[in-house]
Parts: sequence; C-alpha cells; structure tokens
Amino acid sequence: MLWFICILTSSFIFTIHSHNNKCLRHQETLLLQLKHELIFNSSLSTKLVRWNESDECCKWHGVECDASGYVVSLQLDGEAIFGGIGDSSSLFRFKYLQKLNLAYNDFNYTDPIPKGIGTFTYLTHLNLSRARFGGQVPVEIASLKRLVSLDISNYDCWTPREFLSLEYPNLEMLVGNLTGLRELYLDCVNITSFHERNKWSHIVSSHLPNLTALSLHSCYLSGPLASSFWQLHSLSILRLDYTNLSTVQVPDFFTNFPSLTVLSLSNCSLKGSIPSTFANLTKLIHVSLAFNFLTGSLSSTLFEGLSNLAHLNLTGNSFSGNIPRSLYALPSLSELTLRLNQFNGTFKLDNLLSLTNLTYLGLSQNSLSVDVGNVDSRSYGRFQMKTLRLGSCNLSSVPNFIKRSRIERLELSDNRITGEIPSWIWGTQLVYLDLSSNLITDFQKPYHIPASLEHLFLDSNQLTGELQVPIPLESKLRYLDFADNNLSGPIPTFLCNVTHLEFLSLSGNKLSGSIPPCLLENIRGLDVNQNMINSSIPDHFPSDCRLEFLLLNNNTMEGKIPKSLEYCRRLKVIDIGNNNISSNIPDIFSMDCRLQYLALNNNSLEGKIPKSLKSCVSLEFMDVGNNKINDMFPCMLSSSLSVLVLHSNRFHGEVTCNMTWPVLRILDISSNHFSGYLESINFSSLRGMMQWSYVKSYKVGVTLIMKGIKLELEMICPDFGSIDFSCNNFIGEIPKAIGDLTSLHHLNLSHNAINGSIPWSFGNLTKLESLDLSRNQLIGPIPTGLGELTFLEVLNLSYNKLVGMIPNGRQIQTFSAESFEGNPGLCGFPLSTSCSHTDELSPREHEDVEEKREIEWEYVSAALGYVVGVGIIVWLLLFCRRFREKYFGKIQEVVEDMFIAIDMRRRRARMVTRNRARRQ
Ligand SMILES: *[C@@H]1O[C@H](CO)[C@@H](O)[C@H](O)[C@H]1NC(C)=O
Ligand SMILES: *[C@@H]1O[C@H](CO)[C@@H](O)[C@H](O)[C@H]1NC(C)=O
Ligand SMILES: *[C@@H]1O[C@H](CO)[C@@H](O)[C@H](O)[C@H]1NC(C)=O
Ligand SMILES: *[C@@H]1O[C@H](CO)[C@@H](O)[C@H](O)[C@H]1NC(C)=O
Ligand SMILES: *[C@@H]1O[C@H](CO)[C@@H](O)[C@H](O)[C@H]1NC(C)=O
Ligand SMILES: *[C@@H]1O[C@H](CO)[C@@H](O)[C@H](O)[C@H]1NC(C)=O
Ligand SMILES: *[C@@H]1O[C@H](CO)[C@@H](O)[C@H](O)[C@H]1NC(C)=O
Repeated sequence: MLWFICILTSSFIFTIHSHNNKCLRHQETLLLQLKHELIFNSSLSTKLVRWNESDECCKWHGVECDASGYVVSLQLDGEAIFGGIGDSSSLFRFKYLQKLNLAYNDFNYTDPIPKGIGTFTYLTHLNLSRARFGGQVPVEIASLKRLVSLDISNYDCWTPREFLSLEYPNLEMLVGNLTGLRELYLDCVNITSFHERNKWSHIVSSHLPNLTALSLHSCYLSGPLASSFWQLHSLSILRLDYTNLSTVQVPDFFTNFPSLTVLSLSNCSLKGSIPSTFANLTKLIHVSLAFNFLTGSLSSTLFEGLSNLAHLNLTGNSFSGNIPRSLYALPSLSELTLRLNQFNGTFKLDNLLSLTNLTYLGLSQNSLSVDVGNVDSRSYGRFQMKTLRLGSCNLSSVPNFIKRSRIERLELSDNRITGEIPSWIWGTQLVYLDLSSNLITDFQKPYHIPASLEHLFLDSNQLTGELQVPIPLESKLRYLDFADNNLSGPIPTFLCNVTHLEFLSLSGNKLSGSIPPCLLENIRGLDVNQNMINSSIPDHFPSDCRLEFLLLNNNTMEGKIPKSLEYCRRLKVIDIGNNNISSNIPDIFSMDCRLQYLALNNNSLEGKIPKSLKSCVSLEFMDVGNNKINDMFPCMLSSSLSVLVLHSNRFHGEVTCNMTWPVLRILDISSNHFSGYLESINFSSLRGMMQWSYVKSYKVGVTLIMKGIKLELEMICPDFGSIDFSCNNFIGEIPKAIGDLTSLHHLNLSHNAINGSIPWSFGNLTKLESLDLSRNQLIGPIPTGLGELTFLEVLNLSYNKLVGMIPNGRQIQTFSAESFEGNPGLCGFPLSTSCSHTDELSPREHEDVEEKREIEWEYVSAALGYVVGVGIIVWLLLFCRRFREKYFGKIQEVVEDMFIAIDMRRRRARMVTRNRARRQ
C-alpha cells in the first residue's frame, strides 16, 4: 500500500514537470506507430495530426511522460478517430499509462471497447465517454484495480440502437473490484440485470462509500434508495436523470450530500416540495429538477446563500406563487428556466438588471404577467442574454431592451403583441424567432432579416396580403411557419432561393395559384393545407427528392397524383385529402417505403388501391374515403394499421381476408358494395379493440419536424375503437365476437341485410357511445344488457324485425321512439305500443343479467375518467399532449395546429356531422 502511494505521489510530481522530460526513442517509435495505426479524420484532428518526429515526443499534444520518459498520459479526445484500436494495437504497449482519454471519437457503435485495456495495470483515469463504442463492456475493465475515475458514458441516449451494456461484468463485479473509484460515469449504459436496476444504489454505495461523482443519467434505474446510499457524504456530482425515484422523499437529497456542486434529477418522478435545507448546499453550481411532480411555492430563503449557482432548471413541475426575489441576487446565475410551471403574479424584467451573467431566461407557460418596465434600454447595456423565452407571459409589446442585446433565440409566442414587428428585433445574430399566436399585422419597414436566422415562426397572427419577406441569399433559414394568417396571392417563388429551407408551413391562409415546382427541390416538409390552391400538384419531384411530409389537404387542386412522387422515398406523410384530384392512385411505392400516414379522402380518385402499398409496412393511417375507387378489400395492407377508412367508394366483394391488424382502432368501410357473410370476418383478430388487450399503446408514430425539433410522436392513448360497416350488402348474422371488442365506442352495421338476433354479448360493450343496427333484418328481442350501457348516446334499431319488450335500462329510456320504430313486434316505452305480458325474461336470462352487472362495475370504474360528449379524438390529443409535455417538454414547440391534429379534428367533425345527417 505504501508503495502504491509512492507511485501516485511521484507521478504527480513528475507530471507537473513532464515537459522537461526527455523523450525515449522507443516511446517515440511507439507513438508514431500508434498514429499510423489509428484511423482518424486528419482534417478534424488537432493533436494526432501534429505528432511528428522533429519535436520532443513528450511535448506532443495530448502526450505526457514521467520522469524517466515513459508515456503516462494520452489525451486523444475529439480526434475524429473511428477505428484502428484492436487488441493488438500499439496503444497497449504503453505499459505505464495512467490516464487514457478517448472521449468524443466515433466508433460508430460497432467497435467494442478493446479488451487490451486490461493490460494498463497503472491506469487511474479512463475516459471513453461519448466515443460511440458499442456492445458489452469488457470484463478486463474490472481488473484495473487502480482506477480512480471511470467514464464510459454513452452519447445521445435517444437514438434507437444497441446501448453499451454492462452484463458481464455486471455493475456489482465492476464496482466490487474497482474499490478505489471516486468518479463513476455510466450515463446511458444498459445495466441489463433487472435485479441490479433496482439494487444499484446499494451496490454502488456499499462498495464505493467515498464516491465524489456518480452519474447514471438515463440508465432507467429505479428506487427506493438504499440506506447506505445516503452515506455518500463526499458526493459532489450526482446525476440520476430518468431514474424512477417516486418513492424517494425530496428532503433527503439535500441534507445528506453537503458537498454537492452538480445535482441533476430531471424526469425522476419526484414529488413534494423543495425543503428549506436546500439553502445549505452553498456549493451548488448546477441544479436540474426538470420534469418532476414538484409543487409548492419557492421561498426566497431557498436561494439566498447559493452564491455559486449558475444553472437552475425547474422546467415542467407544478411550482406556484411568485418567482422568489433571492433569485435576482445570485451573482453567478447564467441559466434560469422555470418554464411549464404555475408561477403567478407579476414579474418585472428590471429585476434582471443585476444578473449580468444571465444568458438564458425561460419563463414561458406559467401564469405570469411580465412587466417589461420602462427602463431605458441603455440600462441593459451589460446584458449577456442569448436566449429569452417569454411565451404566454401576457406581453402586449416586444420588450424594448432587446434592442441593445445580442439575443440569438427569442420566443414570445402566445402573447398579445399587436401591430408591426419592430424592425430592430432582427438584430444581427438572431437564430430563432417565435412570435406565433399573437396579433401581429405587419413587418415594420425597412427591416433586414439576418443571415443567421434558422427558425422563423409567425403562425397564428393577422398578417395579410402577399407573402413578401426579404430573405438574404446566404440565409440559413430552415424552418418557416406562416400558418393561420390571412395571407393571399400566390405562393412566392423567392422561397425557392432559400437554399436551406427544410420545413415550410403556409396552411390556413388564402393562398391561391399553384405550388412553384422549384420549391420541391430541397424541401423536407411542405404544409399548404387549407388554402385556395387550384392547379395540379406539379410533376416535378426531383430524383433525389427529400420530401418527408406533403400536406395539401383542403384546397381545390385538380389533375393527377404525379408520377414523379415515386422519387420521394422518404415520405412519411401524404395528405392530399379534400381536393378535386381525379386519377388513379399511381403504383409508386418503393420497397423501402416509409409511409406512415396516407390521406386521399374526398377526391375523385378512381381505379384500384396500388399493390405497391404492400411495401409500406409502417403504414398506420389510411383514409381513401369518398372517392370512386373500384377494388376489392385491400387485404395486403400493413399490419401496423391503426386507422383504415374506405368509406363511400365502389369497393366490392367479400371481406374474407384473414385480417391481421392487431392495432386497428378505426375501421370504416361504410357505403360501398361489400357483400358476403358477416360471420366470415375475423373480428377476434382485432385485438386492438379489446380492452384487456396487451396492445395498450396507440402509436401515431409520425416524426414531426416542428419548430426545429424532431419529435417522434408516440402517443400512449386510451382505448378507442370504431367500426362502421353500414350501407353495404352484408348478409348473415352478427358475430358474437364483436361483443369482445370491449373498447368499441362506435358500431354501425346499419343498411345491410343482416339477419339473426342481436348477440347478448353486446351488453359487454360498456364503452359504446353509439350503436346503429337500423335497416336490417334482425329478429328476436333486444338484449337487456343494452339497457345498461351508461355511455350510449345514440341508439338506432329501427326498421328491423325485433320483438318483445324494450329493456328497462336507465340509459335506454332516454331514447325516443324513432330509435325503435319500424319494428312491429317491439313494445313498451318509448313506443306507444304497450306490452301485453310483463314476464318477458326467462330465469336463465335473469342470471345472465346479474352476472353482467357485476362485470360492468369494473368497467365503469375503469372508465370513470372518461368525459362523455367531448370529441374523442380531440380528447385523445389532449391526453397525448399532456404525455408529450411530460416526456418531451416541448409543448410550446409543438405547433398548436399540427397537421395530424387538424386532420383528425376535421375528420372527427365530419364523422359527427355524417352521423347526425344519417340519424335524421
Ligand atoms: C457505421 O455503422 C453502420 C451500421 O451500423 C454502417 O452502415 C456504416 O457503414 C458504419 N460506418 C463506418 C464509418 O464504419
Ligand atoms: C475481482 O477481484 C477478485 C478478487 O480480487 C478476483 O478474483 C476477480 O478475478 C476479479 N474480477 C475481475 C473481473 O477482474
Ligand atoms: C438492454 O439490455 C437488455 C438485455 O440484453 C435488452 O433486452 C434491452 O433491449 C437493452 N436495452 C437497450 C435500450 O438497449
Ligand atoms: C473512504 O475514506 C475513509 C476516510 O478517508 C477511509 O478510511 C476509507 O478506507 C475509505 N474507503 C474506501 C473503500 O476507500
Ligand atoms: C441547514 O439549514 C438550516 C436552516 O435552513 C439550519 O438550521 C441547519 O443548521 C443547517 N444544517 C447544516 C448541516 O448546515
Ligand atoms: C432543462 O432540463 C430539461 C430536461 O433535462 C432539458 O431538456 C432542458 O434542455 C433544460 N433546459 C435548459 C435551459 O438547460
Ligand atoms: C398565486 O398562486 C397562489 C398559490 O397557488 C395563490 O394563493 C395566489 O392567490 C395566486 N396569486 C395570484 C395573483 O393569482
């Protein structure tokens, strides 16, 4: 042990004087050999590329030697190395290496961490972070007994791919052998054992009681925290983001780790309020408690002594009350974000005058009123502000002090800003400007849009006239959103000169004319929904088409779907619904089709569903309703379909294919010429409509590019199902299996030639809101269970051959006689025909009813949260939005009128109208 300390001490001393050390010839040879072996991009390298023979090798960049000239430290981080470290690499011949840093290189997730690392018996510091190593962490790492600091954190945990994983060695083996560790960074490393994911806090703290840094960001671990964990009194850095700590009391965090400088606990499901002992952590520099369930108001005393605090991130909680005054007195504060909370009261921007280091201020989405004050903008002279986010802050004008600042990102959406956009707002280094959802009418002239601008959002304002924006030639503009204004005239061709433009939204205006073909050259997302464009879709998609979203819904476009669309192999969303397109749907979908959303409804399309759609295995949404398509049922469609609408076409034949759509939620094939026996349709395979189904998550997985953020919209939505087979020629009986589709909200089998009786199993459809079986040949009694369906708002059983007494359910009594008319055999309320005998039910049926009641209570309690009468899809979206808010924290960045929402809302509206129309 003494010997060990000596080595450490001597290396410490000699490291300081390393530059005096003489380069040993064999070490130099080895270094050159290493340089030769490593595969790196020499144009990005700053160290390796400058290693050469003429200099003293111990002075080479990234190299340090000890007194005798042996290399003891290699700092090869950020050298664009992407290969060349096999187990036989020269690297492993530096026997006395103490520090190795390969961070920020790119091993492409394919190269594993080389096993040769186990040969470095003197290694104290190993940094392999963000180097994109893949696969399993080699067991050899666990033999590096002298390690003090180990960092194998991964890169962007969000990209779907294999994580670097700790399996053998597992966490216990690793920390059990490396008892000298003081710093352990394992962000985004997959700790594969379920047991270890729960017991990690005990494993780490029992073996490493003197840890100073622990970083387990995005390892998806969970609490509770072991008692030994609270003894890690030396902790200075603690990052546990995305660890489920819902069982942990917040106060403990602050009393037990007095040396904390970095505390990062975002997305940890923390509850409760910040306790007063927080004020004792005077060394804190960086605090993130974003996206938890924290509540309460923040007392001013909490921050009084935190003179080192530079970053405070409390985004996405439920803090309320005033913003504490003590925050304005923190001398080091540079980033403050309190977005997405319930802070209230008035916030005076003048308060910030004392915060001369502030670069980021986020106050959006609270209940604050921001008072911009009347201080002369010169007072803000020393302001460093780079990002200012004052969305929904009750502002009536653009804060004037911005005039003198060098702001790069400005978000002022959802305020009451009227009139012209001041010409000084544009500055010279603006990158991001969001003025959406205000009352802006024009641009103050003259104005200069800086070339630096990448995002410009002016959607939901009151801009009128032709769209004219003087965008400089060298502009970096990528996202441009003018949706929901009053713009008219043609889509201007100057947009074609904006070479970096990726996403353009002009939806909800009064633009007319045509789409300039040149616009299609580079664009990735084009949204001109709801305008007055009346020419055809240009057949000018380039052969290297980059388009992912094409939204032309609700115009008056004519002509064909262009053949050149076939070049757009990255398309995820095609929405050409509600136009006058008349042609066949071209058979253009490629083998690697990525389409997820296809809406062609309300046009005059003819011909067949193209066979190549079969390749679109990600297709989730298809609506070709209200066209003239003349085809058989499209059995070949993707099994990932959630929504299929064929309504009102010329589809015909039987629906006999073995439907394997386990996530299908909405199936509308009404108003066609389908025929055949209803029994031959395999309803049992529609597992997505069964409440007990394991398929709980309804994924509308369209990646939206909105406000510069790529969002994978994965919506975990409650069960919702709808089947509409009405106005066809189906015969036979209603399959009992429909009664198992317990998440059905709408069922319409009307206007067919169905006979037999209504299955008793319909009493299980406890979520049913509308049921239409009218105009068929149904016989027998109405199942008593139907009388008990609490959410049923629409019932139509008219014009059948039903007999017996109308059941006495609370709900069924609310329907009028029209619901039952045209069934001469029916009697009882609300019909005027009274029943002659009252003993309609047999004893067996009584039992059935009792049994059903019991089951029903479960369903009712499960459905309690359901709000009747709210448009279901809108409701889903609201729910989903809350989900997104929580998990992406980007609520304001998701455009209010995002196209899916619009489309679904519109579709919902139509569905309601249509149903109403049919009911009359
Ligand atoms: C990185 O890996 C991907 C597949 O994982 C492969 O297609 C690509 O060619 C690799 N790149 C390099 C530079 O090795
Ligand atoms: C861990 O240490 C134990 C005891 O010192 C040793 O037997 C074992 O081989 C070590 N494990 C690894 C992976 O080096
Ligand atoms: C983590 O490892 C487990 C077990 O090998 C695997 O099932 C899981 O998919 C991995 N998770 C990630 C995110 O790579
Ligand atoms: C932790 O530190 C204490 C006091 O400095 C020391 O006595 C103890 O041996 C250390 N424990 C480990 C496992 O290094
Ligand atoms: C922490 O702060 C409280 C007041 O908030 C004080 O009473 C207590 O003594 C402090 N504890 C430590 C360990 O400094
Ligand atoms: C606050 O924390 C959230 C969650 O970790 C993060 O996404 C966001 O970028 C942070 N904001 C700032 C300004 O650092
Ligand atoms: C602010 O919120 C607090 C706590 O929720 C409440 O008591 C107070 O009345 C609110 N103040 C204003 C001005 O709305």
